[in-house]
Formats: sequence, C-alpha cells, structure tokens
Amino acid sequence: MPVSQSAASTGPATGIRRGLTSYGDAGFSLFLRKAFIKGAGYSDDALDKPVIGIINTGSGFNPCHGNMPALLEAVKRGVLMAGGLPIDFPTISLHESFSQPTSMFLRNLMSMDTEEMIRAQPMDAVVLIGGCDKTVPAQLMGAASAGVPAITLVTGSMLTGGHRGKRVGACTDCRAFWGKFRSGEIDQQEIDDVNSRLVGSVGTCSVMGTASTMACLTEAMGIALPGSASPPAVTADRVRIAEQTGTQAVALAELGTEMSTILTQEAFENGLRVLLAIGGSTNAIIHLTAVAGRLGIRLSLEDLDRMSVETPVLVDLKPSGAYYMEDFHRAGGVPAVLRELGDLIHRDVPTVTGRTLGEEIDDAGPGFPQDIVRPLSNPVYPEGSLAFLRGNLAPGGAIIKQAAVSAHLLEHTGRAVVFEDTADLAARIDDEDLDVVAEDVLVLRNIGPVGAPGMPEAGYLPIPRKLAAQGVKDMVRISDGRMSGTAAGAVVLHVTPESAVGGPLRLVRTGDTITLSVSRRLIQLEVPEDELTRREETLGPPPAPAAERGYRKLYVSEVTQADEGCDFRFLQSTELPRPEGSQSLLKAP
Ligand code: FES
Repeated sequence: MPVSQSAASTGPATGIRRGLTSYGDAGFSLFLRKAFIKGAGYSDDALDKPVIGIINTGSGFNPCHGNMPALLEAVKRGVLMAGGLPIDFPTISLHESFSQPTSMFLRNLMSMDTEEMIRAQPMDAVVLIGGCDKTVPAQLMGAASAGVPAITLVTGSMLTGGHRGKRVGACTDCRAFWGKFRSGEIDQQEIDDVNSRLVGSVGTCSVMGTASTMACLTEAMGIALPGSASPPAVTADRVRIAEQTGTQAVALAELGTEMSTILTQEAFENGLRVLLAIGGSTNAIIHLTAVAGRLGIRLSLEDLDRMSVETPVLVDLKPSGAYYMEDFHRAGGVPAVLRELGDLIHRDVPTVTGRTLGEEIDDAGPGFPQDIVRPLSNPVYPEGSLAFLRGNLAPGGAIIKQAAVSAHLLEHTGRAVVFEDTADLAARIDDEDLDVVAEDVLVLRNIGPVGAPGMPEAGYLPIPRKLAAQGVKDMVRISDGRMSGTAAGAVVLHVTPESAVGGPLRLVRTGDTITLSVSRRLIQLEVPEDELTRREETLGPPPAPAAERGYRKLYVSEVTQADEGCDFRFLQSTELPRPEGSQSLLKAP
C-alpha cells in the first residue's frame, strides 16, 4: 500500500487521484477533492487505499433490489477486509413494472449513466450491483465501455409464496393466474387473493426469467463469482457472496483486470451455451448482443443455431419446466450446469477470480442426487430452448423459445389475424365478434425497438377471451416485440427488421397465410412476391417516428434493431463489424 501523501501530491493516478476534475492545476484538483471528501470524515490513510466503487441501485420503486442495504454493507465489509476503500454511488435503477413506456426504452440510458459515472469518479474497480431484468445488461454495457475492472453482484431471486396449498412465484404464475381469470376459470376473489401471494420477498423473479437468466450468464461468462447467480435475495448465502465480491473487487483492482480480458468471444459462447441449457429468456439474446457490441464482438446467428441444436435443456425451471430459482440453488446452481455441459464449455477462459472457468468447475466438486439440473443423457428438452427463424417475414431473423411451445404448434400453417399496434390489440382481442379461431396466427406489429417505442414485452399476446373460455391455451403469435422471460407459448419474437422501419411484417393482412416451421427454422408469409411488392408501393415508406425532443428523440434516432442488441449506434464499439445487410443477428469478427 502506498504511504500517506500530502493533500496536494498528485502521485500515480490510482485511487482517489484518478480522473481529477479539470481546473487547469492537477495539484489543486486533488487538494480540493480531498478537502471535500474529508468533510465526510475520511482520513488520509483511508484515502490512500485502492478505491472500489459500488453501484447502488436501491430504489423505493425497485423491490427486486430491496436487499440493497444488506448487500452494500457486505460488499463494503469484503472490500475493507482486503485493504480497499469502498465508496458507493447511485445510478438509475429500473424495475419492470415501474418503467414507462418500457424498461427496455430506458436500458441504454442506464448504461450511459453507468458508463459515465464510472468514468467520472475515481475508482480502481467497480462492483456492479444489479438484478431486475434490464439492470444487469445496462451495467455490463456501461462498464464494458468505461474500461474499469468490474465484477457483477446480482441481488438474487425472491422467495416463492403459497396460494391455497400450492407454491406460486412471479411471474410465470402471475401470467397463469391472469389467464385463468380472463377465461373465467377463477373469480375476482381468487385473483385478488393470489395477488398478495405471488411475490414472497424482495428479490428478482423466482423463475428462469430474464433476471435469473442474466444472473446465470454473468456467472457462466466469468464476470461474477462462481456460485453467485442462484442464492435467493434474503439468504445468508447471498450476503456471503456479496462480501466475497467486495474482497475480489480489490484483487481485480490490484491486477487491473479489465472486463475485455474476461468477456471474450469464448466467454460469450459460454454464455450462449448456458442460456440454451437453462431454458433462459429470449431477452438475453438482445442483451448479450448489446454487451458484446460494446467490446467489438459479434457472434453469428448460424453459430447460435448450431449451438442450439447440440445443447439440450438441462434445467427444469419455470417457465419451460416445473421448479423455481430457490430449488435451482439447492441443486447446485450454475456450477452444476457447467459440470453437466462438460466439453461443450470453453474451460480455459479467465474469470474474475483470476482462475480459469475450468478450474472453478473442478473446484465446485462432484454432483449429488437432485431433480433440477439434469445430465446430458436425460435432458428436460432434447435441443436448446431457443430456435432462430428466417423467412420472407423476418429477413433479419426472429426467435422462438421452442422448449416452451405446445408441441402441436411447432409446425403450423394458419390464417393471419392482424393487430396494428397495442392499442388496436387492447380494443379488439376480447371482442366477441372478432373473427378468430384457435388455428389462426395472431400478428401484432409496431411493437419493435422504434415502433412502440422501447420494444415492449407485448409479444405474448393474450389468447382471445372467447377462445380462452373454450380451453385454448396456446396459439401461434408473431410480433416485432419481446416477451417476458417468465412467459411461455408458441410466440415468435424480435421479427427483424421491425414494421415501423419498413420490415415485411407491415405487409401482412388479415386472411393471409403464415407458416411456422421450427424444424425448418422458417417463418414465411405465403403471399406471392409481386403482391408483396404491390402492397409495399401502396403503403410507401414508413413515417418517421414521432419524437420532438429529449431522450425519446435520441432513442428513436439511434436505437438499432434486435440483431444489433437494440443498443444506440453511437455507444457500440468503433471496432464492431456491421451486420451484412439485415441478414445477421450476430456475426463473428
Ligand atoms: Fe424484477 Fe422480474 S420484475 S426481476
């Protein structure tokens, strides 16, 4: 450790001496900085330590981060134990249900906040505490661009609750109960009762939704500690992980290990592999693409699809399976998945611990009898959870969570029933006179990155009430939007390019025929090419998105399509290869 320095000594640019405010006199800048922070009671000895920034995303509007005070205390303890100086600071916090119009609309804003505040303030390493869906990707994107050593700590999943003798958890069961209420299966009293039972504690959703998926991927990619993804928010394990994360942050600072050293092409491939094996959220594809884009890395759709064919679903969690995150934790969590994946994982990649992922897998010990993480020989689903579709309806690709699709809809041809936007959907979906049958294909457009804007999770169109009342549970649904990672069904998402920027989805008319073939990876509008050209000419170019000022104007002018992660173009790495036309979701450099 360096000896105490005088207030005006600049010394090497580490710790509190990093990134001085510009006054034209570096000595004065440091003198002033120390004078101010000493107002908070710090000593010169404390200020000579490596500074570990800790991003505090606690917010009264974010119950998924409701354990933030306990995590902050534990991270700080870990930092102090290792000889560092912990300093926490706030950034934007995003909760799914408290982000209008959508949390996706605000993800890039949070990433900018994260990047610039890491860069603006003096820290030798940073602990990224996130949890709710968009927070972890936003932090990874920002920290990757800032270039300061970083380690992720997720807040952890909530506990499940109980309703009339059955275990329930957000938010797969939220959707299931709401579906039953819509179809008349349960009454107002029961839907009111279950509303208080679905979320058992603070923490992130208790199924393999986007938050749990991103937690698992950060661990699999080596940017979070081994075993850190699965401990529930309110457990002693979670607090211990927080303490260890603080300690490890000091080691990262001393080594100067930047995120780009850990998040390599192979690390992203490990992330994608685990995404497939855990039956993870479709949203993670967009987020990983965006994070990789900050580091100049583009993976190919073809690679991803190849991985999907050879990677079975091993984890039996809702929404595609039966269990909850707390069960996954007791079953061994991500280390158990990595162990079962064996040679499908790149083992030689570095992690935040300074050891390789392979060393960490070996260190996690042997497996034990349990029902949640299956071996390759007895998977939950024989292929990866996700399939990537192409066709004249989605020249830039589309995605479907095949593991969560009703088997009879994996190969389906049906008549399109088109909804122009979410307002049109809300106005007509439950109309008794709506001309729709269970074999139809519901199409919703104008919910893409630009169209809504913010790519809402409205791609999980509700089953029309009159069909739900007849017992229809699943239909083919197609949109340029997203769906919650906690949802399931024959839902084709992320149709690229979106309709609002002129994608073919805008040419579909009610009565057209659409073919979905998961086995052929096909999403096809069965309308002759010359008729599509005629429709295109009739419609003319799409109108410019309406946004007069502010962040919304920045968003609609700069957001990229799903195949580029919906990041802002000016935030992507300057090294990032552009997609070839609209044909590439992710492309190796
Ligand atoms: Fe925060 Fe689901 S709402 S993780």
